[in-house]
Amino acid sequence: MCGIVAYVGPKDAAPILLEGLQRLEYRGYDSAGVVVSNKGLKMRKVKGRVADLAAVMPARFKGGLGIGHTRWATHGAPSDVNAHPHLSADERVAVVHNGIIENADQLRAKLEAEGVVFLSETDTEVLSHLIARTVKEADSLEEAVRAALKLVVGTYGIAVLDAERPGEVVVARNGSPIVLGIGEKEMFAASDVAALVRYTRQVVHLEDGELAVLKADGFTTFASDARETAKEPLTVDWDAGHYDTGGYEHYLLKEISEQPDTVARTLRGRLDDRFHIAHLGGLNMDARETRSFRRVKIIGCGSAYYSGQIGAQLIEELARIPADAEPASEFRYRGPVVEADTLYVAISQSGETYDTLAAVQELKRKGGRVLGIVNTVGSAIARECDGGVYLHAGPEVSVASTKAFTSTAVAFALLALHLGRVRDLSPAEGRRICDGLRRLPEQIKEILVLEPEIRELAHKYAGAPSMMFVGRVRGYPVAREGAQKLKEISYVHAEAYPASELKHGPLALIGPEMPTVAIVPDDELLDKNLTTLGEIRARGGRVLMVGHRVADPKLADDCIVVPKNETELDPILLSIPLQLFAYHAAVALERDVDKPRNLAKSVTVE
Ligand code: F6R
Repeated sequence: MCGIVAYVGPKDAAPILLEGLQRLEYRGYDSAGVVVSNKGLKMRKVKGRVADLAAVMPARFKGGLGIGHTRWATHGAPSDVNAHPHLSADERVAVVHNGIIENADQLRAKLEAEGVVFLSETDTEVLSHLIARTVKEADSLEEAVRAALKLVVGTYGIAVLDAERPGEVVVARNGSPIVLGIGEKEMFAASDVAALVRYTRQVVHLEDGELAVLKADGFTTFASDARETAKEPLTVDWDAGHYDTGGYEHYLLKEISEQPDTVARTLRGRLDDRFHIAHLGGLNMDARETRSFRRVKIIGCGSAYYSGQIGAQLIEELARIPADAEPASEFRYRGPVVEADTLYVAISQSGETYDTLAAVQELKRKGGRVLGIVNTVGSAIARECDGGVYLHAGPEVSVASTKAFTSTAVAFALLALHLGRVRDLSPAEGRRICDGLRRLPEQIKEILVLEPEIRELAHKYAGAPSMMFVGRVRGYPVAREGAQKLKEISYVHAEAYPASELKHGPLALIGPEMPTVAIVPDDELLDKNLTTLGEIRARGGRVLMVGHRVADPKLADDCIVVPKNETELDPILLSIPLQLFAYHAAVALERDVDKPRNLAKSVTVE
């Protein structure tokens, strides 16, 4: 959600900023801008994509110090003036900002009463004026920034330039990520490591309330009370290659296709052949503690929440502990009852989703024990949790989550196995699950081979104005995620219902114009699912069945047959054809597959 890049060093900043912004464009993409410092501030910003900004950049845009931004609008529509950076009236201070300043209206009214004229409708512009007010008298830029931030209520990740201090950039964080990149006599900062890995793998994550001063020869970090803080750099193992499309037409297809490998990486070194358990050292819990939990509560947002529903089912089945999943965005606001014998699990690909982070912080404040299932090493949610499981799926660039969704479900299978084997799950059952998990990468390859067939089906159904997705118990989260993928990237309206609920209302929608995708695994509920298909067909509904056997033509018009694994693990495989289905429907409808309208990767605002 919005991207920030900053550079201080001997090179020209502009090309580095543009390159960084391109890497961050998946986080927000309605406008973009840069400012460089070279005997005063020079700025270019436009409504549109980073490519539109690059097109209007003058050839001579020199300066070894600069900040840049790609925007996902919150305050004020996408436009040239609302694009960041925002300058103070005297053009001395420039600011780029991610997050939301909640008291922007009050601050703006106060500044206007003092005679400040605002150019944009953004909340960010108050920051450039507030900093400019004190920067002249302040001993340092960080002092002026700190004074301004004291007046601000809300979330921010910011980068600030002062034309009169041409050797430094100040960055600060509260709720919106800022990562520093350490180079050779040059320093970088960004809202996401994606913008840094081309230049350096040595990074430092700022904590909430921290501020940093970057100069070409190094950096200093400060706590909110101006005390200097010590930071240990971290080496990231993602490189620039992870951020290329690798010859695929879209990141989304690349990420779907990577799944045999990403699932293997989530499993690597974690299955034990002797005791048929999962090794999850990052949980930071001994067996006694692991046995002590009486409930599991899973939280996450969007697709992460749906993968949590698959996780809850796995934990109930394999560990026989009551488990359920809830959207983190709802959980944090309903004054949750936090109990000592409940294990809380927070899921996040980015590790930065604000609603999930705030829910984790609420849990921690109330003394809850929280594990994180997170893809991004060192991210805010990972740092906030008591322990957890990293996915090791590599960066996910396309806005719609695919490989992280699958790896999260796999991580839950490992957690369920772990919780089960310290309880009543027998070694034989443990072995059955370990063997099933090992088969997943090859079986995903078999599903990927079906792509031409799935493409044809997607083209056939993409014209429908609306689609229904149904599944029962294990199949229901698969249906929800299938509907989510379709609507977010193809903009085709899609509803997901438990198959058992259809006759309690939504069956009224069924007709030839509303086809149904039915998740029908070969499990103990097969007959009940087939009865539902009969009910849909009797109302003239078209059915695309996704399951383990070729459909009876009386019950389904089309089918996608996926390889069978252990019943508990089947949802992981059943989700994959739906990713390809949504992808090809979106391509058929000529959508912007990797950057769907109105959305952004990593929602770091409320
Ligand atoms: C959907 C999608 C979103 C995310 C959600 C949580 O395809 O990508 O629904 O799953 O915004 O994001 P993370 O996992 O980064 O917390």
